[in-house]
Amino acid sequence: MSLHSLFNFATLCLSITIVILVEPPLQVFGANRGSFGVMKSAAPPPPEQVGLCAAAVLVHGYKCQEFEVITDDGYILSVQRIPEGRAGGGGEKRQPVLIQHGVLVDGMTWLLNPAEQNLPFILADNGFDVWIANTRGTRFSRRHAHLDPAKPEYWDWSWDELVLHDLPATFGIVYSQTGQKIHYVGHSLGTLIALASFSEGRLVDRLKSAVLLSPVAYLSHMTTTLGVLAAKSFLGEITTLFGMAEFNPKGEPEANFLKSLCAYPGVDCYDLMSALTGKNCCLNTSTVEYFLKSEPQSTATKNMVHLAQTVRDGIVSKFDYGNADYNVEHYGESKPPVYNLVNIPHDLPLFLSYGGQDALSDERDVGLLLDALKFHDLDKLTVQFIKEYAHADFIMGVNAKDRVYNAVITFFRHYQ
Ligand SMILES: *[C@@H]1O[C@H](CO)[C@@H](O)[C@H](O)[C@H]1NC(C)=O
Repeated sequence: MSLHSLFNFATLCLSITIVILVEPPLQVFGANRGSFGVMKSAAPPPPEQVGLCAAAVLVHGYKCQEFEVITDDGYILSVQRIPEGRAGGGGEKRQPVLIQHGVLVDGMTWLLNPAEQNLPFILADNGFDVWIANTRGTRFSRRHAHLDPAKPEYWDWSWDELVLHDLPATFGIVYSQTGQKIHYVGHSLGTLIALASFSEGRLVDRLKSAVLLSPVAYLSHMTTTLGVLAAKSFLGEITTLFGMAEFNPKGEPEANFLKSLCAYPGVDCYDLMSALTGKNCCLNTSTVEYFLKSEPQSTATKNMVHLAQTVRDGIVSKFDYGNADYNVEHYGESKPPVYNLVNIPHDLPLFLSYGGQDALSDERDVGLLLDALKFHDLDKLTVQFIKEYAHADFIMGVNAKDRVYNAVITFFRHYQ
């Protein structure tokens, strides 16, 4: 047996879902006990793994369950479930919503405002069964069946692998636990990987509808000077600087890298959040402070390089290995294959919300995306434009409930 097939066999054996319950015993939610293929983890989690439930959900008086799911390439992802609203929920069947964050953050990003402003809680209080995803490499999803996050091998992935492995794994756990098709909410990179998946016909059989906040597909009009500079660097010297391994925004080389970019004329890093995401109208200063402390999360340098290629090339395609031979080796073609967004099923209910101040998801790039969706069934496509919103307002805006989330709930109810 080759090493590769041995590994596939090992992960197959490991491809069972482990459920860890971190709720206090009195709060145990009784719906999924004894389900086939689910087992409780015996060992206590390592200290940094207390989990998102304990860190940001239980304290607000919501029930919360920690799940772990192993991707078919061995990454162990944590997923949280908020099964009902604060006031409880009776026995009725709740529809699952899976919430997927963007790049350089994790599931915590949805939970930083006062509870009544946070999307997961708002959805739970409105009768949905809420699931929060955490991408590989972020604080609660940093383990692997046999790779060590301290080693470069662990970081050999870009968002292609999130399409191929992470999303199917998180969809899989939600689907197997609820037996229902899923409403999806993605922000930023969480929209790109969804669009790429749907364009290849992936996940659509388990999907009820998809909400895309600050949709990112085309990136060539990105206006943040800092972002543009960073993108240029990721295509150049930076990969040797970080050795194609972990990109940890809190690390020292990364901080120095950022400082060097901030020294460029025209880049104002005084307000880092605006420098990166645009002029957000509606953020709470305490929330931003909390965000800067708890958030920037690691990703793979290769993932940043792939995003930078998307900025450069103006098309949505797989990772470019940089020369024809390597591409042939990986894809059998000299150019990386394109994700053809026109192939997204035309009858898939889609809700897009984008902002006029968003420096990452620029209006013109959203225009290109809408153009790719021009054959979509008109009655299945809802588009919302919020003039004063920038990238982070969609997750942390103090008025996001009124401006966006209420419309999301109406949309989900329409397609239930
Ligand atoms: C801003 O956040 C703080 C801390 O969570 C909270 O006390 C305050 O009410 C928030 N302000 C607004 C306008 O939501």
